[in-house]
Amino acid sequence: MVDENRFKEDVGRILKRLFITGISGLLGSNIAKAARDRFKIFGIYHNHPVRMRDVKCFQMDLSKTKNVEELENILPDFIIHCAALTDVDYCEKHSREARRINAIASTFSFVPLAINFRARRHLR
Ligand SMILES: NC(=O)c1ccc[n+]([C@@H]2O[C@H](COP(=O)([O-])OP(=O)(O)OC[C@H]3O[C@@H](n4cnc5c(N)ncnc54)[C@H](OP(=O)(O)O)[C@@H]3O)[C@@H](O)[C@H]2O)c1
Repeated sequence: MVDENRFKEDVGRILKRLFITGISGLLGSNIAKAARDRFKIFGIYHNHPVRMRDVKCFQMDLSKTKNVEELENILPDFIIHCAALTDVDYCEKHSREARRINAIASTFSFVPLAINFRARRHLR
């Protein structure tokens, strides 16, 4: 008889690792659903916790470099960066915060992390 948990662990070791930022968002969650049978998926959300079958999620604020560094152990093969502030009106009213998340955090915190991950692809 096959031990289902053991089987999943074994498959998890074989599958390539995909790391998705913004996994609670429209794009990130749909990518996770579409890809979870072919990749071992890890993701980060900010305010909206995610529970998804076969997907491991962490809470994280992308703009806090210290938290970002906590993810170094994941060592993904691929990264899809979907985290962003996307409400245009909010971004116009809070332009500093929008710049901090969408420009500064993505470029100066996340990209170096991706390089540290030695991701073979960095997609946006
Ligand atoms: N939707 C589309 O059709 C589409 C098409 C092409 C490109 N895009 C681009 O893809 C990106 C995502 O779009 P979307 O529609 O999926 O947006 P969304 O539904 O608003 O999702 C945004 C994601 O970013 C996360 N996030 C926001 N601030 C964060 C922070 N400080 N730290 C960590 N995570 C944070 C949110 O987490 P919480 O919800 O947990 O707070 C959420 O998971 C955007 O850059 C957008 O321009 C979208």
